[in-house]
Amino acid sequence: MCGIVGYIGENNCVPVLINGLKRLEYRGYDSAGIGILIDNHPLVIKNKGKVSELQSKIEKLKLSSPIGIGHTRWATHGEPNEINAHPHCNGDKSLFLIHNGIIENFETLKKGLQQLGYTFLSETDSEVLVHLIDSFLKRGNNLFKSVRMALTEVEGTYGIAVVYEGEPDKIVAARKGSPLVIGIGDNEHFIASDVSAIIAHTSQVVYLDDGELVEVYKDHFCAKTIADADIEKEVFEITTTLEEIDRGGYPHFMLKEIIEQPESVFNSMRGRILLEQGTAKLGGLELVADRLANSKRIIISACGTSWHAALVGEYMFEQFARIPTEVEYASEFRYRNPIVGSEDAIFFISQSGETADTLAALKEAKNRGALSLGICNVVGSTIARESQAGVYIHAGPEIGVASTKAFTSQLVVLALITLLIARKKTMSLVDGKNIALELEKIPEKIKQILKLNEHIENIAEEFKNATNFLYLGRGYNFPVALEGALKLKEISYIHAEGYPAAEMKHGPIALIDKNMPAIFIAPKDSTYDKIISNIQEVKARKGRIIAVASESDDTIDKLVDYTIKIPDTIRMLMPILSVIPLQLLAYHIAVKKGLNVDQPRNLAKSVTVE
Ligand code: M6R
Repeated sequence: MCGIVGYIGENNCVPVLINGLKRLEYRGYDSAGIGILIDNHPLVIKNKGKVSELQSKIEKLKLSSPIGIGHTRWATHGEPNEINAHPHCNGDKSLFLIHNGIIENFETLKKGLQQLGYTFLSETDSEVLVHLIDSFLKRGNNLFKSVRMALTEVEGTYGIAVVYEGEPDKIVAARKGSPLVIGIGDNEHFIASDVSAIIAHTSQVVYLDDGELVEVYKDHFCAKTIADADIEKEVFEITTTLEEIDRGGYPHFMLKEIIEQPESVFNSMRGRILLEQGTAKLGGLELVADRLANSKRIIISACGTSWHAALVGEYMFEQFARIPTEVEYASEFRYRNPIVGSEDAIFFISQSGETADTLAALKEAKNRGALSLGICNVVGSTIARESQAGVYIHAGPEIGVASTKAFTSQLVVLALITLLIARKKTMSLVDGKNIALELEKIPEKIKQILKLNEHIENIAEEFKNATNFLYLGRGYNFPVALEGALKLKEISYIHAEGYPAAEMKHGPIALIDKNMPAIFIAPKDSTYDKIISNIQEVKARKGRIIAVASESDDTIDKLVDYTIKIPDTIRMLMPILSVIPLQLLAYHIAVKKGLNVDQPRNLAKSVTVE
């Protein structure tokens, strides 16, 4: 949450900061600000609302500066307004700072600083940092040492960047729990909370690790640990392109990302299917594949949409690899003193690779000796780097806050992992080949589903004013029901619940009347007859029904109000197909309600706070 960007070099930093903030806006978008030095004098400009509003304010001023930092905020402490927006300044306005994360002991630190005579303007936890650093500066320390000493007093998480008029040739940045990357240019350096903000300028980056600080000059940088030890940082080449993170003519990133799914799922499986051997080749798991296949238990931990993917993974692993598998919310796992050890393999699924709860659960698992494996999208992300081994899903940058293509790619990767471990165990070559073949057909089948976009938009028109929805599915499609409901809630603000279809009669059936649409995910599989009975139960109570059904099914149309017909595939892969109509339905309903699909209220793409 919150986006950070910084620049120091020979060019004007203002357009770099504004364009960087626009790229980062998906991380938080309730207020924004920049701080620059003009002839070595600080100037801070902030605004409530979108980066575009800040941009209009700034453009009129025709500013130019070789050093500056910018921030787009997702409020944690204090409402979104200009005062609470970043950068925050010290009393004499010689020092300004941006912060991503949460300072947990800010009340204590604030009281101590107030006793020293410091006054606070904002309600944020972040402001404490700038005064704390100031207090060390006032004791005669240089900026780097002041930041380092201040951070030794801080509990919580931070990615920060600080500029001081007394040392105008540098930006000091530090990281603990909130991502930070340094971009290396030609006589210029960049700082960002993720590479999308600086990709237009450089592909050479250095990822800061927790507990590291860096002093960034225009032509070099020096990194140290918070304990003051020098460190050498490795430079990485990033391959993401600008085109990949642009909207490419689509009205919303979410639509672009839904439509991209034939390519994104293809990229997730590219070069990884060994058809003749009926298995998968996953370089990132090679060294641990035997340990994984022999583990006594698999746990999959994640949040949100990634947690729904984990549920599908549970079905896959248990059905084919025959390894007992549990799925757990990362936020619960980390705090419940879980019984895990060296015989367990634990997957952590995260699109961003930065989700605070998932990262904390990963650390917990590692401490307890379990084999900790990441399934991430963002290359070089913290979870990817902290895992002992893992697999990238290669879905490409996902910018829309509602996760779509990452979900389907996560499912592809889970299917590949299933193949890998099940073939090491009891799965036959024939069964392995069959799954591999079906996987290869998935991109084409997604293309077919996307052709139903207009039909789904018409259904959205019909249902856009409903205030509650029920999503029902069985087996592999139960997690899809949860995911469909989450998509609708997130972007349309309509209350929606996902249930295993058979559970309906244990409670939710009481809600059914003519105003309550029920969406059944009912492809022709082994639970089909059962789900038809559930459809009858809703129909008998005058509920309106939309069914996502198999294209070969011509009996279901008589039972329901609307059908969305999708191609058949094997059960384990069906969620990759059946979720797509639900993504489109949620998208169209939200657009028809005039809502901001890519930046829904109260949400942020990457939840880096607890
Ligand atoms: O980046 P992650 O996959 O770890 O994110 C987990 C959730 O925050 C995320 O899936 C969230 O639920 C999305 N907004 C869902 O669309």
